[in-house]
Amino acid sequence: MWRPPQRIKWKASPGPWPSAQQAAGSPLFQPLHYQALSLATRTWVPAMVPWRATDEGFVTAANIEWYARFASGRPGAIVLEATGIRDLPSGPLLRIGDDRFVPGLAQIAQAVREASDGETRLYIQLIDFLSIRRRPEPQRFLERFLRIGPHHRDALQLAASVDEQTVRERLLALNEQQLALVLTARELEAMRYGERERVTDTSKAAIADLPQTLPTLFANAARRARDAGFDGVELHYAHAYTMASFLSALNTRTDGYGGTPEERVRLPLEVYRAVRQAVGADYVVGCRYLAEECIEGGNTLSDTPYFGVEFARAGMDFVSLSRGGKFDDAKQPKPGHAAYPYTGPSGYECMPQYVSDEFGPFGRNRNAARTIRSAIRAAGLDTPVVTAGGVFDFQAAQAMLADGSADIVGLARQSLADPDWFLKVRTGNGAQVRVCEYTNYCEALDQHHEVVTCQLWDRLDLGEPGIAKTPDGKRRLTPPRWLADGSRSLPD
Ligand SMILES: Cc1cc2nc3c(=O)[nH]c(=O)nc-3n(C[C@H](O)[C@H](O)[C@H](O)COP(=O)(O)O)c2cc1C
Ligand code: SF4
Repeated sequence: MWRPPQRIKWKASPGPWPSAQQAAGSPLFQPLHYQALSLATRTWVPAMVPWRATDEGFVTAANIEWYARFASGRPGAIVLEATGIRDLPSGPLLRIGDDRFVPGLAQIAQAVREASDGETRLYIQLIDFLSIRRRPEPQRFLERFLRIGPHHRDALQLAASVDEQTVRERLLALNEQQLALVLTARELEAMRYGERERVTDTSKAAIADLPQTLPTLFANAARRARDAGFDGVELHYAHAYTMASFLSALNTRTDGYGGTPEERVRLPLEVYRAVRQAVGADYVVGCRYLAEECIEGGNTLSDTPYFGVEFARAGMDFVSLSRGGKFDDAKQPKPGHAAYPYTGPSGYECMPQYVSDEFGPFGRNRNAARTIRSAIRAAGLDTPVVTAGGVFDFQAAQAMLADGSADIVGLARQSLADPDWFLKVRTGNGAQVRVCEYTNYCEALDQHHEVVTCQLWDRLDLGEPGIAKTPDGKRRLTPPRWLADGSRSLPD
């Protein structure tokens, strides 16, 4: 992954942990009620794809065990991984684009309720994404995938009557520099990175029609989430995906859904209203979006507080803030692989690693989140703001609540490192927390679509009877259980 050139090494060093009594009186462990949102504590496990679904997008036993394990640590809420709203093959990512996915998802909701004695709320992140192809071998691209057009013949000074095969042969004879003069920027990108659709490709009917199709797709998915027993939905308006691309300052659509901030937020608001209509006022609906896109020409704090105010005004039950994670600055993938939106500087902002710059990897979204939250408050709205990014420490979480950068604190990788963080801190056992080292071993697994585990626990107690492991037997799929007396793993 990309890392800042300063290469300063940071270590996650927690401050003093609270006693059980101090934790009980702390703002972090107080309930929060706003509209349909009702949390026992102000803690949150943001969405993380663990690559445990079947190739057809169905829930597996490993998915159920994974979420039950998080729930046994009793965070205020867990957001289930990004789950596809279309009924289209998308590899081993969970899907909710048809009623046949509901029974499996319902098993997760049931398992979370049981494991947390009904305390932890479970929301599901609903995602739409556009197509992205793997990076082709240049020869194959020029021989087969490139659509030959008049601009190629013009650039090669060939007559319009010259057949396609001859044009391809001429292109194949060019070196990379020469090709850069003949191919369009998008064709070059398709050859170097793999072809990627954008919301601005309105010459394609399916892309032009997104404002007509997406509200219904999201609304149907949200209805299924409710049927499956989830407590609410998080609309995925963040990172590299369709809805974030509508919000982006790089969205230049001219059909009323791109250009000014008012036009860019139009579809996200229409999707929200369709979802609200489908699930009713008593169901939690919020969204996750980017406080800053962290790419050239992308959204900054001059655009994003306005979006937060609009989402709040429309009636969302929460807004959750992430940052970066875009394709625009992603690293070139190897041939045969697809680009991954967390490999460039914006990816670093999303999931910062311990090798960092002077600011460090902890709380990089905090100042931006504070600006957005104060804009929402200035508009007279109390919508809770969820802020994540490099939080592992009780004191830092408390400070975020105190300085107005969050109403709810999200711990993603720290929960992966130790799902019992919440329970340990609440019971005065903070010293036993397995603190995340921000190495991004887990993120590398995610990048290669491999089952996600944490290096701090995936080789522990591999002989424990009955545990699920990776097919090679080298990694366990969930951390050992924790008991308050300090013992690690005591199966029933
Ligand atoms: C393995 C992995 C998978 C992730 N999957 C998602 C996802 O499905 N949706 C999402 O919005 N963010 C996803 N994220 C980003 C996290 O939710 C979070 O924003 C990020 O890790 C920064 O928070 P942290 O520093 O507490 O880990 C993922 C992160 C990791 C490490
Ligand atoms: S592998 Fe574990 S320790 Fe490393 S970043 Fe991921 S959660 Fe943290």
